[in-house]
Amino acid sequence: MNKSLVDIHSCNVVELTKIHNPSGNITIIQNGGHQPFDVKRVYYLYDVPGGSERGGHAHKELYQLIVSASGSFDVILDDGVNKRIVQLNRPNFGLIIVPGIWREIVNFSSGAICLVLASEKYKADDYVRNYSEFKTMKKSGNAD
Ligand code: TYD
Repeated sequence: MNKSLVDIHSCNVVELTKIHNPSGNITIIQNGGHQPFDVKRVYYLYDVPGGSERGGHAHKELYQLIVSASGSFDVILDDGVNKRIVQLNRPNFGLIIVPGIWREIVNFSSGAICLVLASEKYKADDYVRNYSEFKTMKKSGNAD
């Protein structure tokens, strides 16, 4: 993927399947569903102290679907030119983040659980953790 062509509008909020039941709802995420990738890894952030900020990086190849399984938080998307804030606060909505987008996750409510479904297993060298390196990557369109 040419990272210079990816912008904040390449990231979409999708409505997930919800089975409503007066005794409790179910939301299902499975391969072949709303996310444009097969899931190879699931992780979740929890016990996040008030005021903490997570993220602060971009990925070169990784796609993610982020869901607030409980509580709420804001995801700041940044393509190097424009920023957009997406609030996630319902377990049946998820944000797809494509490769080449800088993200920060802020404003965690008490007890929030940030559930992340990812297209690849963990690879440290898929991260871009330096913002000027990210800007250079966006200008060149090169993920390497
Ligand atoms: P990181 O992705 O930087 O957290 P966040 O973006 O939520 O602030 O990960 C924090 C630490 O956890 C870092 O040392 C890498 C490690 N980690 C793994 O070992 N495997 C994983 O799948 C993830 C997501 C993180």
